Amino acid sequence: MTDFNGLAPEFLQSVRGKRVLVRSDLNVPLDGSRITDDGRIRASVPTIRALADAGARVVVTAHLGRPKGEPDPAYSLAPVAARLGELLGATVAFATDTVGASAQETVAGLGDGEVALLENVRFNAGETSKDDAERGAFADQLAGLADAFVSDGFGVVHRKQASVYDVAQRLPHAMGGLVATEVEVLRRLTVDPERPYVVVLGGSKVSDKLGVIDNLLGKADKLLIGGGMVFTFLKADGLEVGKSLLEDDQLDTVRAYQARAKELGVEIVLPTDIVVADSFGDEASARVVAADAIPADSLGLDIGPESGAAFAAALADARTVFWNGPMGVFEQSAFAEGTRAVAEALTKVDGLSVVGGGDSAAAVRTLGFDEAAFGHISTGGGASLEYLEGKELPGITVLED
Ligand code: 3PG
Repeated sequence: MTDFNGLAPEFLQSVRGKRVLVRSDLNVPLDGSRITDDGRIRASVPTIRALADAGARVVVTAHLGRPKGEPDPAYSLAPVAARLGELLGATVAFATDTVGASAQETVAGLGDGEVALLENVRFNAGETSKDDAERGAFADQLAGLADAFVSDGFGVVHRKQASVYDVAQRLPHAMGGLVATEVEVLRRLTVDPERPYVVVLGGSKVSDKLGVIDNLLGKADKLLIGGGMVFTFLKADGLEVGKSLLEDDQLDTVRAYQARAKELGVEIVLPTDIVVADSFGDEASARVVAADAIPADSLGLDIGPESGAAFAAALADARTVFWNGPMGVFEQSAFAEGTRAVAEALTKVDGLSVVGGGDSAAAVRTLGFDEAAFGHISTGGGASLEYLEGKELPGITVLED
């Protein structure tokens, strides 16, 4: 595992008795009120604990899902407060609003070294507003709850939102250890990566990955493609893909990538066999076919075993690997083997192996892999992709001012 970069000792020495607002990314998947993957909460604990141990009065703010700028019980952070408390081994006071009476009372009631969590910050329309003044007004209220700000929600640093961006302009601030660790790892994927450098991309849509393919084609030695997005690549090669997911409007873009890869000497590896089914999720009809023989009335839901082995072989001598996006519908066992083969191969990489956040991070945990076997599992899906696209991340640049 990557070493965790802690907060600077000078900052920690300055926080005793101070109210420190921490923006964490606690956006975890829920089944009703049951948390199905607490990875992001666990990743947020070290910074919160370090601040509490240093005697700060820690006020955590975070979002869950995408509520519409007003309270919605389906998106309450209450279950997250309970889990955070379990992981910290301490009571986490929960404020039932974002900056209102409950937040103010809760913060006022904190002693040194105690922790509170504010209700879903997106229950206030000011959080995600595109209007600078509206966002700023909400950031003023958040800033009013604290003496300093720590940005530790890596998964949201690509969002120009009040609790990520504007609040940092209003309080003395520091980059949290989680954000610092993530940025350092991603930097190693873009600046002088150790070779061979293999990038594995999956997930449903090519259109979500255009920027990252664009930027990484010039850096990687091999690009392995699976997941729903692969059918647009197969179609671009002239193959029939049946009822599989296809983005017709991206065929020319994909052909241009293939041409550029050839020019640059980057090998694009596509699956040679596919697990198909008669309809989405129909495990009973799952069967393996050659990638050039996908029946017209079926759809591909995973890469096949021959491809899984070929992808593993392509990863075997890699010194740097970035993987984003599952190879198939891994939530169902009939379509999980491709993702499992890639995850397994990553655990054997002698060098830096990075699992991009979102679905691939969830896949690794759902399939029962030991997280410690990977170099780094990012907590940010969109944020890590935007970093790798070479985009500026507002939540990072604001900390540099
Ligand atoms: C994520 O889940 O990637 C982060 O928590 C950001 O969430 P968002 O895409 O709703 O801003």
